[in-house]
Amino acid sequence: MVKSVTVRAPCSTANLGPGFDVFGLALDAFYDEVTVTKKGKGITIVSSDDIPLDPKKNTAGIVAKAMLDNFRKEGWTKYKNGIEIKIKKGVPAGYGLGSSAASAAACALGMESLFKTEKKWGARESRAYDLVYYAGLGEKASAGTVHYDNVAASLFGNFVIVNPNFLNHKYKVPVTTLDVEIDIVIGIPKIKVPKQKTKASRGVIPKTVKFSDASFNLANATMFVAKGGGNPSTFTYLRDAIVEPARKKMIPGFDQVKENAMKAGAIAFVISGAGPSVIAFSNYYKKGGVTAPKKIGAAMKKGFKSAKVDCDIVICKPSNGPKIVKIVK
Ligand code: HSE
Repeated sequence: MVKSVTVRAPCSTANLGPGFDVFGLALDAFYDEVTVTKKGKGITIVSSDDIPLDPKKNTAGIVAKAMLDNFRKEGWTKYKNGIEIKIKKGVPAGYGLGSSAASAAACALGMESLFKTEKKWGARESRAYDLVYYAGLGEKASAGTVHYDNVAASLFGNFVIVNPNFLNHKYKVPVTTLDVEIDIVIGIPKIKVPKQKTKASRGVIPKTVKFSDASFNLANATMFVAKGGGNPSTFTYLRDAIVEPARKKMIPGFDQVKENAMKAGAIAFVISGAGPSVIAFSNYYKKGGVTAPKKIGAAMKKGFKSAKVDCDIVICKPSNGPKIVKIVK
């Protein structure tokens, strides 16, 4: 019998311009580590980080409960006791880097491995759809509503596309992946973010959109996918006429940071998920001893400085996805 499983899952960026709630990209920058153990009664959370310890308000707690309830309902386990979830946060919370999703994804994979349900979900594709569904439930804790873009990226790595409107089955969220090769420059402004920031920044999104803006986003999103994302120039399609204009007001110095990044050679520049982090995409090249990502990072820092805000710059590549780091039998 497996007693406990530890999983490490990457952070992610969502939306990527035109793909609101649909596109996600796993980032090789920060990781959460979650250990699920058959122990005690009910669901308990153990963590020394600043996260809710009430399992009903904790991302991973919500995921573990939903999965365990489902395993019992399906008759996949006779296990009657509880689950302890130990969470070590590596992903900064509230900065638009899929912090809650990393914990949710790690927990979902841990639960699957703990109860050996890999083969029970059905076909390989079906398993993926189920995992995205259950991990997405955890987003309710921070976003107030479920969204699947970040969890799918943390679950499968690299670039993902999810369909949150799949009507054929209530418990499945279709996901597909694209293999992208790109340099990523993350700008994390050092500003105070509210608790439940995603909920707040979903509140500023317009309730209605102009046809021309919808068409602009659709054209860019479909071109990006059709071109496969393999060639860095494809990233020029990551442009957004709908969400960015509304959310950029929450990011000090946004226009200047974007202008600086593009002038320094970025291929595209987007708000990372619900913000306030921003992301520039770049081709790697070296000129006068300075690499393009470094040059773009320095330009972004200057942009934030013009709004009197300091920021951290992190240069990374897409992440290959999560890893089971330990199994105790
Ligand atoms: N798609 C979500 C949003 C991602 O933009 O609200 C949150 O990280």
